[in-house]
Amino acid sequence: MNRWPGVNWVWLPQVDSTNSLAERLMEAWLAEGEVVLPPTLLCADSQTAGRGRGRRVWHSPPGGVYASFLLWVDTTALTWLPLAAGLALHQGVLRLVPQAQVRLKWPNDLQVAGRKLGGVLCSSRVQGDRAWTVTGFGINVLATPVLEGEERQAVALCQLGFTGSLEAAREVLLDTFVGQFPLLLQQGAKLADRWLAVSAHRLGERLRVRTERGWLAGAFRGLSPEGLLVLQVGDEVRTLTASELV
Ligand code: BTN
Repeated sequence: MNRWPGVNWVWLPQVDSTNSLAERLMEAWLAEGEVVLPPTLLCADSQTAGRGRGRRVWHSPPGGVYASFLLWVDTTALTWLPLAAGLALHQGVLRLVPQAQVRLKWPNDLQVAGRKLGGVLCSSRVQGDRAWTVTGFGINVLATPVLEGEERQAVALCQLGFTGSLEAAREVLLDTFVGQFPLLLQQGAKLADRWLAVSAHRLGERLRVRTERGWLAGAFRGLSPEGLLVLQVGDEVRTLTASELV
């Protein structure tokens, strides 16, 4: 019996990257002219070429949860994808460590006291007014991998009071993600308040951002009606599409 009705899922002992595999699958389906396919979850025990945001390596030894979810969505949902993913994982993590102060650093790094517990990497392929999306996530459960390009080191669930097995953590995280992510995505603009409630940033806080055009610093002014980061830079209020906090 399929544990998630209507969802294809594949579990691999090892893969280069679940995101790369998902993107290869997506391209193969599109080349075959397939358009309506069920949501698909790919999960691996370890990755040999795990990818992080900003072209960084995502070290993926056994002891973490590494997964990618392929979903066909309306293009209007695309800007909400990163926030919905962060919120779904936030819920999953709290089911495992209810007492932990887990916060979301823009847009969806899971952090505890500034240390990274997990991250999300999204990509998409637009076809008219719909898009195939790949949402990949890695959560540290029993291992704390070295983080590239991060000042502070990682933290794992086992350091936050989680005493269960990797398998138990994986089941809860994947169940919560598969159940909640599509529902959260349907909420559109309502997600902004939910995201702000668990955000690592205070309104007015000074943030430093890497954009496609270079560095920018400004005061955090919340989220735009599309779910994008809003910064006040001098007298100007800027809405940032492709950006990463540093
Ligand atoms: C980040 O830089 O914070 C994003 C990390 C995303 C890592 C996950 S692990 C599963 C999936 N496959 C990858 O190669 N990357 C994502």
